[in-house]
Amino acid sequence: MSDLALPDAAAAPAAGSRPAAVPRHVAVVMDGNGRWARQRYMPRFFGHKQGVDALVRAVNTFADRGVEFLTVFAFSSENWKRPSEEVSGLMSLVLVAVSKYLAKMAGDGVRIRIIGDRSAVSDKLRQAWEHAEQVTRDNHRITLAVAFNYGGRWDVVQACRHAVAQGLPPEQIDEAWLSQHMALSFAPDPDLFIRTGGEMRMSNFLLWQAAYSELFFTECLWPDFGQAEIDAALAAYAQRDRRFGSLPAHPVVPAGT
Ligand code: IPE
Ligand code: IPE
Ligand code: MG
Repeated sequence: MSDLALPDAAAAPAAGSRPAAVPRHVAVVMDGNGRWARQRYMPRFFGHKQGVDALVRAVNTFADRGVEFLTVFAFSSENWKRPSEEVSGLMSLVLVAVSKYLAKMAGDGVRIRIIGDRSAVSDKLRQAWEHAEQVTRDNHRITLAVAFNYGGRWDVVQACRHAVAQGLPPEQIDEAWLSQHMALSFAPDPDLFIRTGGEMRMSNFLLWQAAYSELFFTECLWPDFGQAEIDAALAAYAQRDRRFGSLPAHPVVPAGT
């Protein structure tokens, strides 16, 4: 089924760890487009364009490996601080990407969801998002959630606003209620959180949902993040021992005790 490079015996997880597993949900901060372009003496926009192509390839690879949900950070709440030409270039790129790739993605069995604050984007972009969601809503191979004008803090605030707007008494607000009113209510929490581009920070992505995600940082710039890099991230994940605050099922007793 897959050519996922499983860890060899020497690198296998210690006894008591969970068996190698494929994450159900992967979240990715697709960073490094600008530097990728600069390395080629090209404008940043060129890197963003290549980044879209890399995303289309990555969705298929993750789906082939058995990942059910892929959530990608495409534009953060803070990215409005960039020069206006870059921001408007990104907005038009998204429209071009939808018209160029929607039919292919729909044919590939990808269900598309957009998460983020849609109030600040143009009517045209909002309509394109709604169209993409509508056309792909019955697909089941993989769900691609594109985080656009998304911020983890925004997500928490908008869920709280729902609670207040519904007149919910404080004792009825709990973690489950908030989770059900946050942007990724349709997905389990991400198992694996990948950031390309070498920075080791979350940059306000999925702050709530990634509470127990396994983190994987790579120097690889997003446009170069292909099958080999995806398999390396999945292999690293397969070796992690996820405890969620508990203890390993069969703790390894240190020698000499
Ligand atoms: C990520 O790449 C894409 C967006 C934030 C839209 P960058 O544009 O941040 O690329 P670098 O980090 O400057 O290389
Ligand atoms: C995070 O990348 C946002 C996206 C990839 C969309 P940035 O490049 O904006 O993050 P910082 O500024 O380095 O933290
Ligand atoms: Mg960046």
